Amino acid sequence: MDQTGEERQHQIGLIQTTQKITEYSSMNIEQLSPFAGRVTGINLSHVTSSQVASIKQAMDQHAVLVFPGQHIGQDEQIAFAKALGPLELGFRKIKAGAHRLKYNELADISNVTVDNEVAARDHSKIVSNLANQLWHSDSSFQKPRAKYSMLASSVVPDFGGETEFADLRLACDHLPDWRLDQIKDKNAIHSALHSRFMLGDTQYTPEQIATFPPVVWPLIQTDPHTGRKILYVGAHACEVENMVLAESRMQLMDLLEHATQRQYVYTHHWQVGDLVMWDNTATIHRGRYFDLSARRELRRATTQEVDTSY
Ligand code: OGA
Ligand code: MN
Repeated sequence: MDQTGEERQHQIGLIQTTQKITEYSSMNIEQLSPFAGRVTGINLSHVTSSQVASIKQAMDQHAVLVFPGQHIGQDEQIAFAKALGPLELGFRKIKAGAHRLKYNELADISNVTVDNEVAARDHSKIVSNLANQLWHSDSSFQKPRAKYSMLASSVVPDFGGETEFADLRLACDHLPDWRLDQIKDKNAIHSALHSRFMLGDTQYTPEQIATFPPVVWPLIQTDPHTGRKILYVGAHACEVENMVLAESRMQLMDLLEHATQRQYVYTHHWQVGDLVMWDNTATIHRGRYFDLSARRELRRATTQEVDTSY
């Protein structure tokens, strides 16, 4: 039987109501910026498969979704992430020491030690916190790379510690033609430890370094689901292939500056209990300054990209 577009949309749980609010069954999405959305009417501790499908669809559109007031537990965060794809370990592959959290697959994005004390300024966790303050896409230094990251907050500092997101699709849409022509067939080399080395964090064994050999990604990519073009840059991109090194680094810095102009950025001011989810293939993000002696505790689950058809 022939269906109207509206019937089809109802079936997949997508009903356009107004320009500002989109309703996915009981899930409501309010526009927070030209891309990011704020989602209410869903409990992430118990998602159904149709809700997971709606979330993926909403992620294609928004690339960043904020779910306030979730207060999700560790078991539920893992279950939610698993429903979205295979889990990604990221840096835990080489830093597998004592862990505060129940699962190796949960990244402890906090400045707190296993003894539940705020870490000293020279602690390796603080270095990781600081590396997160550089614009980056989680695990762009790997193949497969990360797709979704889901960061849940439990303690937030009084001042600072926001997380910013830049939409690489908007950035690509607004690249000047001359620049697009210059880079459209170019590839960047991404390396896990480049940004760490830049911060003076150089204490890695040959085995750790060998765990993350550099990988190559096109600078301009097309999202297989939305058809949108993406300017794929960030702190892990350290060179452009087949270019003089200095010129290639300058170009990457210029591109990053373009991609992170305020009009492409959403700033998230954390409340305890928020869960923020982003698509690492379409956005970059960074943490913002906070007083390192103030507690800040978040945890992140990340999935691997499975659809690598491009
Ligand atoms: C991350 C990250 C930034 C922040 O969890 O991947 O980069 O604000 N976090 O803590
Ligand atoms: Mn990150």
